[in-house]
Amino acid sequence: MSRLPTVEVTVYPYECDAYGHMNEAAYLQLFERARWEALARGPGPDLFRRHRLWPAARRATVDYQLPAYPGDVLRVTIETEKLGRTSLDLRQRATRVKDGAVVAELQIVFVMIDTEGKPTPIPPEIATIFGGRLSARPGELVRHDVGDVTLSVDARGDGPALLLVHGYPLDHSLWGHQVAALTGWRRIAPDLRGAGVSDAPETGYSMAAYADDLARLMDRLHIERAVVAGLSMGGYIAFEMLRRHRARVMGLILVDTRADADSAEARKGRESMIEVARTEGAAAIADRMVPRLLGRSSQQTQPHVVEQVRAMIGRTPVAGIVGALEAMRDRPDSTPLLPTIDVPTLVVVGAEDELMPPASARTMAAAIPSAAMTTIPGAGHLAPLEAPTAVTRVIAEFLEALPRP
Ligand code: MLT
Repeated sequence: MSRLPTVEVTVYPYECDAYGHMNEAAYLQLFERARWEALARGPGPDLFRRHRLWPAARRATVDYQLPAYPGDVLRVTIETEKLGRTSLDLRQRATRVKDGAVVAELQIVFVMIDTEGKPTPIPPEIATIFGGRLSARPGELVRHDVGDVTLSVDARGDGPALLLVHGYPLDHSLWGHQVAALTGWRRIAPDLRGAGVSDAPETGYSMAAYADDLARLMDRLHIERAVVAGLSMGGYIAFEMLRRHRARVMGLILVDTRADADSAEARKGRESMIEVARTEGAAAIADRMVPRLLGRSSQQTQPHVVEQVRAMIGRTPVAGIVGALEAMRDRPDSTPLLPTIDVPTLVVVGAEDELMPPASARTMAAAIPSAAMTTIPGAGHLAPLEAPTAVTRVIAEFLEALPRP
């Protein structure tokens, strides 16, 4: 995928050898002409200069399919094979206009260098133009290396970024409806470390580690700022992002979450859950958690949601469950942070959330300057899953009212 237009170039007589065939140097030149032409018709030939950098070609391979002769008109497409942090792999294909036959393909690797020749990260504007395989077909997860772990990410759509952070012991599918429906936004729903099919190391879990993973994921996706939506533990992580990566957060959606740290009793509860996870596994955690996570209405009327949550917890790696419990047990109190929140904020809570009830959500919202709050009827602690259309609607209304970056 790239957003550069397809262009047509004519083969010049001087580009051919004595037999009328093009040699490698001529093809490299022709493909280069096509790239400049595409830039000129698209984002502008000064795209790189505007960012004070230059794409230095590091490797190029031409694959010949058919001869080309002077006067042939070739249609050249440009596709991004891979968009790295500083590198860009392109594939260009030249097709003869008169019969649609592919005459040659070029694979070329560029490294972005600054004015001193040092490799430099690809800026968001250029990343957006070249696209790359940063997202996948709907529902397909793409894996992104964020340092010591690789995260699986459901990323869809274009526009300003919306980062959807799931709670414990869940995965990205919690946000399935929102990811599918919130068009006009670039929706990014990762499996956190230790969740879903992301890597689940034995150690290395903390709110700081989760937040740093997400900041690195934003780097990988060339996203400078995002609206961060966090459910429950996802909310604790959103607070940590404010503490550690404040400039990356342009709005907050706090769903079924709280700001205070664990009480002594809650910490003891974490210890016994760690023991359950270690000795009995994820299914035992699901047995204990499902009745607390879902509202009574959902438990009575939505058996498919009950099953979905049970299955989601059941496939969570034990290392990830234990790591999340330790991270939540040791998380800091975010209450002092609330009055300092200066980005648009929406608080959403399920009317039947018994873990983080509406009264506590209201107290939290009141402490955040100009936060809006919505209660979702008939939903418990997993409102985005239990009342998906209602939650998507309130999020959409909130996003629509935001100033566009
Ligand atoms: C969650 O849903 O993320 C957890 O229930 C949060 C918690 O246990 O504190």
